[in-house]
Amino acid sequence: MVHFQETLISWYLIHKRDLPWRETRDPYKIWLSEIILQQTRVVQGTSYYLKFINEFPTVKDLSESSEQKILSLWQGLGYYSRARNLHAAAKEIIKNNEGVFPSNYNDLLKLKGVGPYTAAAISSFSFNEAKAVVDGNVFRVLSRIYDISTPINSSQGVKDFQELAQSILNKSDPATHNQAIMEFGALVCTPKAPKCNKCPMTLECSSFKNDTIKMRPVKIRKGTVRSRFFIYKVFYNSPEKLLFLKKRKAKDIWQNLYDFDHQEFTKKELFDEHIQTFQNEKHTVSLSHKLTHQHIMAFFVLCPTIKKKINKELVPVKINELKTYPIPTLIKKYLEQEPEIPNSV
Ligand code: ADE
Repeated sequence: MVHFQETLISWYLIHKRDLPWRETRDPYKIWLSEIILQQTRVVQGTSYYLKFINEFPTVKDLSESSEQKILSLWQGLGYYSRARNLHAAAKEIIKNNEGVFPSNYNDLLKLKGVGPYTAAAISSFSFNEAKAVVDGNVFRVLSRIYDISTPINSSQGVKDFQELAQSILNKSDPATHNQAIMEFGALVCTPKAPKCNKCPMTLECSSFKNDTIKMRPVKIRKGTVRSRFFIYKVFYNSPEKLLFLKKRKAKDIWQNLYDFDHQEFTKKELFDEHIQTFQNEKHTVSLSHKLTHQHIMAFFVLCPTIKKKINKELVPVKINELKTYPIPTLIKKYLEQEPEIPNSV
């Protein structure tokens, strides 16, 4: 075990990437980076992290922001509840903790949107608390080194892997150990085509020995993907360059983001039938968009108008001000494809 810890850390010190959140011990910045990295890969996450830090250098700045601004900066990352939780947690820290970031695992766990992984990451990276992180990388690395077939998304698997990760944690330098095991998973012990020929751990890797690398980790299929069908009416006043947006208020996908007036169908047949009624329209766009548990088919029809107000549900927005409104990626894709609405995003 000491050998595993030493091999891992030696590998890390040579191969680690220089990433901006590795240059700080500020728990606020580490928290931001971890929440962003739950949504995306390091390459894309870095620009979001820098944008957030630049816009909100302290947790107080974040707490004082409007939700709309936070959602706009988050745009493109998906799972917008994470952005709303960031805002709620920042406000909580200012209100209940006089702006001081919680400094241990148990207190961090009380923050909105912070689960065992994030609490372990912040408490170890910022405060050197001996709590093991278990993210997708760690599940993969451990399932291979120990050749474990328990599904990583079963409750037994979550418990077993957490205990194992904790038992092999380097207690004298948990911060480096945690960074190292995740980095090793991201760079060597990758999901597809792992670089076993460059791995310093093949001698102690049970999956390598048993030739089960490709079968690890084991994951059980859960849940089905729900199909949804949207027909969007995109009201656009071309002379005034006004687009009419609608705020999504329901507790559903994209809550508090903006899209357009639309009708939803749960059956493909009805959706297809309805689309037929627009067959003579010149400006229509069909797009499909995948979310984790939902598959959306969207049909957009441009509805030219000269009105400046339609109804109180629809917000007229100048297209050069669209950037200040948080919009889902599906809507962004549409705007990029509809030539009648130029340079809007
Ligand atoms: N993924 C999640 N957290 C990370 C971190 N701190 N560094 C690199 N990749 C990560």
